[in-house]
Amino acid sequence: MITPTPLMEITTGYWAFKTLAAAVELDLFGRLSGGRVVTQQEVQQELDLPERPADLLLAACASLGLLERSGTGYRNTELAEQFLVPGRPHYFGGQVRYCDERTYLPYHRLGEALRADRPLTWDPQTQESLFTTADPGMLAMFWEAMYSTSSFTARSLGEAYDFGAHRRLLDVGGGAGAFPVELCRRYPQLRATVFDLPHVRAKAEEKITAAGLADRIGTASGNFLTDPALPTGHDVILLSMILHDWNETQNRAILARCHAALPPGGAIVVCELLLDDDRTGPRSAALMGMTMLVETEGGRNYSGAEYADWLVDAGFTDVRVVAFDAPGANGAVIARRP
Ligand SMILES: C[S@@+](CC[C@H](N)C(=O)[O-])C[C@H]1O[C@@H](n2cnc3c(N)ncnc32)[C@H](O)[C@@H]1O
Repeated sequence: MITPTPLMEITTGYWAFKTLAAAVELDLFGRLSGGRVVTQQEVQQELDLPERPADLLLAACASLGLLERSGTGYRNTELAEQFLVPGRPHYFGGQVRYCDERTYLPYHRLGEALRADRPLTWDPQTQESLFTTADPGMLAMFWEAMYSTSSFTARSLGEAYDFGAHRRLLDVGGGAGAFPVELCRRYPQLRATVFDLPHVRAKAEEKITAAGLADRIGTASGNFLTDPALPTGHDVILLSMILHDWNETQNRAILARCHAALPPGGAIVVCELLLDDDRTGPRSAALMGMTMLVETEGGRNYSGAEYADWLVDAGFTDVRVVAFDAPGANGAVIARRP
């Protein structure tokens, strides 16, 4: 018998998200790091919560697989311990915070974006793009959110695709440098350059220095939409979560610039949440597409076949897709400049 239970799950998705966001805001998982077990009374005292909310929060977090019972107390599950404790290498809290503070309320006006085909999180009348912002809150949050999603995605890409034959990576729109940091850790022969807008440079340098990789990862500033050329001297170019921000014309121009910047034999890696060719899923890619509506002017999530067509038209060959499972990508489309 068909039941409306799937609709209940979809409809109440925000209950789970806001529970997670509140627990992250309270730093519940940070307090329980290292296997610490706490009773409900201790949670009440430490977080200054009355009895009923503490009881409800602990039950909800346990139901979501974030906490588990241990005797009369609670402790982090492995999921929370690995990804929700501040300071962990693949801390995911930056993404939770960004969705909570930046996109959650604008999503309330999704119908408006659907009718007007306009972003909701910023104003195209006063700003060139989502990324060209001097807003300190945004600067503090967005690139941190990207880093917290991409550090694990980069690890998955590094397992799925062998960078062992490459020497110099150019990460175009590399943000705070999560991919170069992870890939250089895994591939000792690799050096990298993070290319991004000028105001992002300090954030990348901070992360690269903190990772102890300043001798192998450099930064370069520029604009991949308007600069006549991208930096050369690299044998592999990465575009992670870049092309989904832009329309087809802009993407073809970016790919042409990447082609021109690579030597013969050089590789391009397009890492994204790829839509299935029949555009019916997966959910992660299709819903990221809705976020592109909320956050960008012309972006959408594309299929592997669409990227393959554009890559071939730009002059690339040997196009193939490697699949993997990560928060920021489910695969990469890889091609070579002949
Ligand atoms: C969605 S983020 C992806 C960041 C990174 N590649 C990752 O996957 O974590 C998009 C990045 O593109 C950069 N960007 C946007 N427009 C740009 C432009 N015109 N030129 C250079 N970088 C740009 C942004 O600053 C941001 O870091």
